[in-house]
Amino acid sequence: MADLRLATINTAAITHNVETLRALVAPVQVMAVVKANGYGHGAIESARAALAGGADWLGVADLTEAFAVRGAGIDAPLLAWLHQPGAAFGEAVRANIDLGVSSTEQLHEVAATSDTAFVHLKVDTGLHRNGAFLEEWHQFFEAAVVHELAGRIRVRGLWSHLANAGAEHDADQIEQFSAAVAMAESVGLRPELRHLAASEGAIKHPSARFDLVRVGISSYGLSPADDVDAAALGLVPALTLSAPVVSVKRVTAGSGVSYGYAYRCEQDTTLALVPLGYGDGVPRHASNRGPVSINGVVGRVAGRVAMDQIVVDMGDANVAVGDRAVLFGDPSQSVPTADDWAAAADTINYEIVTRIGSRVTRRYES
Ligand SMILES: Cc1ncc(COP(=O)(O)O)c(C=O)c1O
Repeated sequence: MADLRLATINTAAITHNVETLRALVAPVQVMAVVKANGYGHGAIESARAALAGGADWLGVADLTEAFAVRGAGIDAPLLAWLHQPGAAFGEAVRANIDLGVSSTEQLHEVAATSDTAFVHLKVDTGLHRNGAFLEEWHQFFEAAVVHELAGRIRVRGLWSHLANAGAEHDADQIEQFSAAVAMAESVGLRPELRHLAASEGAIKHPSARFDLVRVGISSYGLSPADDVDAAALGLVPALTLSAPVVSVKRVTAGSGVSYGYAYRCEQDTTLALVPLGYGDGVPRHASNRGPVSINGVVGRVAGRVAMDQIVVDMGDANVAVGDRAVLFGDPSQSVPTADDWAAAADTINYEIVTRIGSRVTRRYES
């Protein structure tokens, strides 16, 4: 039976994107970020595809995600960085998962596990999410030295995250990070991996690359920012979201469509019903705007996005039940993009792909 709701993921595109990013930043190492189910693409399949493209590291947010990677038999270097007190640090260390550590308190907790923990000390250089605050750096680094000398931890990395708040702020953060590196070295730490940049910083600022860059969105072929042209960099979107048309109706001018009649047909038109809705991650904010391609003709969502379905105004185009409706994919195939949907919903491409729901079948092609 054909899938009703389908995300087709081209794993070769992920492999190619990682190869492309590696070439761009060489000799700097690349961490492929596969958190949040690989930005909706599937964490395990994305991880494997990224490793085939030469990713040196994998990155995830939390330990549940990290254990899933290890549970799939992937033994590549792996970093997880978002933890609550009492997280399963001991189990993580035994599973050879490196831990991002964001405070002296957390460092003590990680150091208390029975085996030597490999840690990446995180400093806050201005994003003001996690990471040790400037005033805490010295104490944080000194505590790390004590634990390292006692064999409880090994400081493999020192890292931070950019706010991508503009070139001037990026430069400030790069400077702050360099100061943190110098301070860490002055107290005797020798982290072999200093890392700061995610996709945007890695692409825009060679001076932000240090020893490793952590790439998420760009490895899936999408742009991290409006002023980065992913296609010009040779990146290929990996995911296509589609469904078959399940009903076609010819209606007269003035007909209202979907809840609240937020849409009235301007002329006699053909409406195609597509079984993807906000239950599948299609943003309701894209009501009356989201683009959908059927047989090479792009129509717009007519009326409100519902939980399970959208109606697409196809004008006088030829549409039949069973035709494939593509919401977004690779623009070289003349279909709308995740960026088009982001614009329609006033959000970012990250959210468009990451929110694709669990009812949508992921099919992997290479
Ligand atoms: C700490 C950290 N590093 C790297 C990334 C990857 O970012 P991007 O998808 O912009 O490359 C993220 C994603 O949000 C992150 O939280």
